Amino acid sequence: MQIIAIAQRKGGVGKTTLAVNLAGELVRRGRSVTLVDADPQASAFDWALPRRLGFVVRNDVPTVAGGVSWVKSIYKSGTDFAIIDSPADLGSVFKLCVEVADLLLLPCGPSSLDLNAAKQTVARASEISRPLPDGQPPTLLVPTKVDMSVLEGQQIAPELAELGHDVAPHISFDISYVRAFTVGQTISAYAPGSSADLEMRAVAEAALRTLGQPVRRPFRAR
Ligand SMILES: Nc1ncnc2c1ncn2[C@@H]1O[C@H](COP(=O)(O)OP(=O)(O)OP(=O)(O)O)[C@@H](O)[C@H]1O
Ligand SMILES: [Mg+2]
Repeated sequence: MQIIAIAQRKGGVGKTTLAVNLAGELVRRGRSVTLVDADPQASAFDWALPRRLGFVVRNDVPTVAGGVSWVKSIYKSGTDFAIIDSPADLGSVFKLCVEVADLLLLPCGPSSLDLNAAKQTVARASEISRPLPDGQPPTLLVPTKVDMSVLEGQQIAPELAELGHDVAPHISFDISYVRAFTVGQTISAYAPGSSADLEMRAVAEAALRTLGQPVRRPFRAR
């Protein structure tokens, strides 16, 4: 199993949207996925309530003392991937994520508030030592809610690149993500072939490449 953790100190940057739709995209590519909603807000869990997602979402927030059993239970699920959707802070869940993740995804919107929080998130991650011999987890910065028709949208990817990690293809600001949540579907099911769907595929492929996984074409269209 490989663990993909999604984290950013700032709220509302699209962590849950990325977590759910990345899971959907990996499932569409034939991988098995468990989504661990480690945010007490439980937005990913709510997204799954209509039971239309096609993968399991576990609402499982670790207690401060329960980190080890939380990690063990994630591995026990035995799926190809576990995706952890974390809360908007740099507390104990974030620390666990950095300790166990094979890949850290850090979404960031095109505002200086988001960018400052992304910098703090990257800095905090680098302070956390891992119990693994391989140093820090690879980190992909994901520009989110991007409007390429304005300067801020055009600047976010180069600004993120200055943080010293790879930058994934961007996710545009698109109301389809809001609507997909409303009906309890992934973007690939709600709006197959749409620009939002294609963008999410590109982000999933960047994640797979960073994990050293083959990027197979989806064999099943929904
Ligand atoms: N690319 C996008 N385009 C338009 N709206 C988006 C996009 N991504 C997310 N949203 C919307 O923005 C809001 C916040 O998104 P989301 O819940 O994914 O962020 P979050 O980082 O998980 O927030 P929190 O920190 O509160 O957990 C939601 O209403 C969501 O539908
Ligand atoms: Mg969230």
